[in-house]
Amino acid sequence: MTQDEMKKAAGWAALEYVEEGSIVGVGTGSTVNHFIDALGTMSDKIKGAVSSSIASTEKLEQLGIKVFDCNEVASLSVYVDGADEINPAKDMIKGGGAALTREKIVAAIAEKFICIVDGTKAVDVLGQFPLPVEVIPMARSYVARELVRLGGDPVYREGVVTDNGNVILDVHGLAIDSPKQFEDQVNALAGVVTVGLFAHRGADVVITGTPNGAKIEE
Ligand code: A5P
Repeated sequence: MTQDEMKKAAGWAALEYVEEGSIVGVGTGSTVNHFIDALGTMSDKIKGAVSSSIASTEKLEQLGIKVFDCNEVASLSVYVDGADEINPAKDMIKGGGAALTREKIVAAIAEKFICIVDGTKAVDVLGQFPLPVEVIPMARSYVARELVRLGGDPVYREGVVTDNGNVILDVHGLAIDSPKQFEDQVNALAGVVTVGLFAHRGADVVITGTPNGAKIEE
């Protein structure tokens, strides 16, 4: 089974968490794209979606799913999104697709975070995948120096501007033993919009695509 087939198995399995008549929180990435395809098969049974990126919004609308502004929705029963890494405590690194800030906002209003991944995303210690940090452009060099002081090796993601008009630093060389504490430390730096560590708001359910189908951990 290819990696994409495992992503597809995870994406389609997430459909069982979608309640009829609800507004669904939808993340970003290649695994989520499979979930959106699945959601398209029940587009007439849901009220709509709140999306974490322009790319996902376009795909949802193509399938006839109404996309609500996040400010119009007080709560969501589920938010379905992928991850770049996930540990046994269900803390995640996200933001490989540069959508981390909107992902964190939509995750914050959801009762349940359903994380859909293939088996390559599971790790014991987060940090092998470079940790994305969204930064206000004028703070880029300052934040990079501070990230070095925190033990990382930040690399400017050249040519990428986020949906919010900011830049991304990818922090290499980390082994994040205390994800909540590190999330707080990076978020406290002036000029940081969001760090792609989802520890304070980790996943509630993990659906992993495997060669034998989808494995669900609640
Ligand atoms: C987007 O910014 C990320 O947080 C994605 O959730 C993450 O990169 C997973 O992407 P894939 O599903 O494409 O692996």
